[in-house]
Amino acid sequence: MALDIREAINSLRREKRAVILAHYYQRADIQDIADYVGDSLALAQWAERTDAEIIVLCGVHFMGETAKILCPDKKVLIPDAEAGCSLADSCPASDFETFVRQYPKHTVISYVNTSAAVKALTDIVVTSTNARSIVESFPQDAPLIFGPDRNLGNYINSVTGRRMLLWDGACHVHEQFSLEKILALKRQYPQAAVITHPECKRPVIQVSDFVGSTAALIGFTKRSEHMQFIVATESGVIHDMRKHSPHKLFLPAPPEDSTCACNECSFMRLHTMEKLYRCLRDETPEIQVDEAIRLRALLPIRRMLDFSKK
Ligand code: 13P
Ligand code: SF4
Repeated sequence: MALDIREAINSLRREKRAVILAHYYQRADIQDIADYVGDSLALAQWAERTDAEIIVLCGVHFMGETAKILCPDKKVLIPDAEAGCSLADSCPASDFETFVRQYPKHTVISYVNTSAAVKALTDIVVTSTNARSIVESFPQDAPLIFGPDRNLGNYINSVTGRRMLLWDGACHVHEQFSLEKILALKRQYPQAAVITHPECKRPVIQVSDFVGSTAALIGFTKRSEHMQFIVATESGVIHDMRKHSPHKLFLPAPPEDSTCACNECSFMRLHTMEKLYRCLRDETPEIQVDEAIRLRALLPIRRMLDFSKK
């Protein structure tokens, strides 16, 4: 008899006291089997809280690292070890260190989409959910460095009136959305609200009705009186939006290059049910973080989590 993959995952999860955490950009079947589905902030908060012995992180590598930094005694697994992040890769730790050393008086704020080694050079970590309020918690004229996402940094500078120094990094998915195609879709669906992740480029942000983190975008679609949405972020998020609002229409924003599924994060989509099953069965690949780096990266992550509890 063929293996019922869902059943097999469920029984391994019970037997091994494992929790499955998934990001909203995961394939629908992975979101559906996960114990919790959330944005990067929620994944870190659940990892911190869980009493499971094994955490399976269906997200990208830095999310697994954050869980491991918070829970060094737990086994943190990721179904496909190749699930990286173009934004985190755009900020090598040695180059970032050279950059921040030029500005010793600046506070270093890093987006969670960074390696543990970059977090170890950071004063406080942020996610897209709390970035604005954490930046606003500093005095208006405080010297700040923000990395690695130039689009998120520019967006926060524009809404807070800050002049943070920015690292010049970006996400290959969010930079791909085509302003012209979004405007064409808007002409076709004039009642639709354009909702956008702040990792997108400024021209897309400027035509948006709402800008927010993954969780904020989902929240907006639940609350809003709009019945149609043009969604300018990774299209996996639409699975959750449809669950909450089955009567509303969700249109993925088109990327520049319509010959590829550029509004899907190829790294996030590496995880499959088969890989999840094998990862639980064999307890590999496992996320490891060097202990000296872990201890330095823990502090800025804790500062962020403490800030978000307030
Ligand atoms: P969220 O913080 O909204 O989950 O975003 C993470 C991410 O990788 C966006 O591309
Ligand atoms: Fe990284 Fe972009 Fe994928 Fe988010 S969507 S995980 S920022 S590559």
